[in-house]
Amino acid sequence: LAKIEIKLSDIPEGKSVTFKWRGKPLFIRHRTPEEISKEQSVPVNTLRDPQHDSERAAKPEWLVVLGVCTHLGCVPIANAGDFGGYYCPCHGSHYDASGRIRKGPAPLNLEVPPYEFVDENLLVVG
Ligand code: FES
Repeated sequence: LAKIEIKLSDIPEGKSVTFKWRGKPLFIRHRTPEEISKEQSVPVNTLRDPQHDSERAAKPEWLVVLGVCTHLGCVPIANAGDFGGYYCPCHGSHYDASGRIRKGPAPLNLEVPPYEFVDENLLVVG
């Protein structure tokens, strides 16, 4: 399936839910106000793959990323690791709640796929 529709009201604040899109895991994270302000205030020049949070999340409450570690492709675990976002147990890559690589061998941030908010409650990915 090229596109998937996600009903956002099914994802409570603070949760990251895994879907499947084009054969890959897709993480949709409903971020808390604390996560949003923390990620927005990270100085971009301290990052390995420098991207401001606003370049990664069109609506700050929602992070949409592929669940594929940019090191060798394992599936990271949500709400784990030193930066509170995702942790890849294969070789120890830590991602923040913006899906940005912060520690470990992965070279790049988790990939943000194309998506759009059709209305308040409906997200279409693809
Ligand atoms: Fe994720 Fe190696 S595949 S750290």
